[in-house]
This record gives sequence, structure tokens and C-alpha cells, in this order.
Amino acid sequence: MSKRDLLSIYDLRSEEIGDLLGKAFKLKSERKYLDIFKGKALGMIFEKPSTRTRVSFSTAIMQLGGLAISLEPENLQRRRGESIHDTAVVLSSYLSGLVIRTFKHCDTEEFAKCSTIPVINALSDREHPCQSLADIMTIMELHKVKTTERLKEEIKIVYIGDGNNVANSLLAISAVLGLSFTLISPQKYLPKKDMLDRAFKYASSSGAEIKITSDVNEVKNADVVYTDVWISMGYESEKEDRRKVFMPYQVNEELLKKASARCIVLHCLPAVRGNELTAEVMDKYGYSIFTQSENRLHSQKAVLMHFL
Ligand code: CP
Ligand code: NVA
Repeated sequence: MSKRDLLSIYDLRSEEIGDLLGKAFKLKSERKYLDIFKGKALGMIFEKPSTRTRVSFSTAIMQLGGLAISLEPENLQRRRGESIHDTAVVLSSYLSGLVIRTFKHCDTEEFAKCSTIPVINALSDREHPCQSLADIMTIMELHKVKTTERLKEEIKIVYIGDGNNVANSLLAISAVLGLSFTLISPQKYLPKKDMLDRAFKYASSSGAEIKITSDVNEVKNADVVYTDVWISMGYESEKEDRRKVFMPYQVNEELLKKASARCIVLHCLPAVRGNELTAEVMDKYGYSIFTQSENRLHSQKAVLMHFL
């Protein structure tokens, strides 16, 4: 069987996401150490900082019997100009999988093309698929929804903020699973047209109800309000402009009055209190947000078992 990569949520079919999350819930409830990856190593290249993704993947492979090898970009010969091709071919002869966080999404694609081992996107400028798997797991867990099929009937998900990588993957997983998903973003920061077109194409067959808007009133009746930083890694020079444009999109107590009474708040983290959400909201919804970050561990174990 040829190897498969997880570069985008669109690399997974709806039933596979359901199975993968079922496995993640089982792993979470059993909390057993397994040795299915005994003698195997997972390489991890992080070209940008990471706390959750780096540590949850390292812990996940260790708890499944394998070893994580952190390949710091500054210590790889890539820094001195070795090509992605040569790096990927060499790493494929040692490792069983490669987790990679990059600036350019096309670099994840090139690594995948040149590797004979599965490549997992740990965040690029376009997508963060591992994050959105943990997000859906958290929504099901906290809203007590047993299957992904029931999610559409029962849950309205609203993302508010920057239409960047995290939003793109949440949009994608909603489109694939057929969920009710509203994305609220200032016009200038809506997801790119190719991401929107792809989501609507999937929605036409999955039955997803997707709304893209700049109107904050569309938070109405949300069961989940999700946000991400306004200044993603690599966009630091746009800090001032972005703060001005995004301020009306802050998740605060006033905004949450529009949501449903049972609404939970999610954030992929790291958070900037006072920007995309207030300190009060972060405190009040800490339980849902930190459950979400814990679920990165369980869902990524399922990802490793599915792809490696
Ligand atoms: N949410 C997330 O990916 O966090 P890190 O950047 O800390 O990995
Ligand atoms: N959108 C953020 C997500 C961090 C996990 C970024 O790319 O920096």
C-alpha cells in the first residue's frame, strides 16, 4: 500500500475522520501505554515556534512505543542549502514519519512528494489539520455529541477572527463532515478564494451549511465560538494595522451574549488576552480551551496510528 500524507483536512474522507476521532476517544479513556511503534522514529521539523504541537507529538509517539527526533532547522544541512529533495530521501531511509511546520505550504507538499514516509502538516501558512481534528473532538466531548453525523443537527460552530490557517482547516473539516459552520472575518482577512471554493464544493455533497460573513451579529445562537490570534507567526510586521481592523471582532462578554446559553469558547492557543479575546473570557472558558489543547495529544496519537 502506498504511503499517505496529512497535509490538509481534504486528505481525509468523512468516514475516516469519524473513525480517527473514535480511536482518539478510546485512547483518551484508556490512557494505556502501547508499543505499536517500538523501534520506530518520528522526525519533527519546526521552522516556527511550537509548544502544543511539538510536545503533544513527542509525547504521543513515546506513549505508543516510538521515539521523536527533533530536527531543529538551524542544525540541519537544509540551512546551508541542502535541497528538500535530498533531505526527504535521506530522512525517509531512517524514519517512519515526518512531522513538519513550515512557512510555505508548498514546502510541505514538496517534502511529501520526495519522501517515501508519511508527512504530517504541523501547521503551514495555509492549514493546520491536526488542530481541527482536536477541535472537533473537543466539540463532541464537551457538547456530548456521540457521532460526527449528529454534529450538524445539534451544533452551530462560529469562527470569528483571522481567516488564516486555523480557520481554513476548521472550514475544511466542516465542509467534509457536513457541519453548520459560520466564519466571521473582516473582508480583507477572509480565507482565500481557492479555500472558499473548495469548501463550498465539498459542502454541496456533504450538506454542510457554510456561511462566510463580516457581520459579528452572525454569532447569534452559536454553540461554539472559536477564535485564533490576529497576528499569526510570520505576520508580526502587520501588528498595528491588524489590531485596528480586528478589534470589533474581539471575543468578549458582550459578543457572547449573542451566542446560545450553552456556548463554549475555543482557541487553538497561544492566546493574546486583550486582542482576540478578553482575559475574562479566557478565564471563564479555560476549561474548554485547555481540554482542546489536551485533545491534541489523543487525536494525534490516532493520526499517527492512522498514517504511519
Ligand atoms: N495550537 C498550536 O498549534 O499550538 P503551538 O503553536 O504551541 O504548537
Ligand atoms: N494562526 C496561528 C496559529 C498558531 C497555532 C499562527 O499561524 O501563528
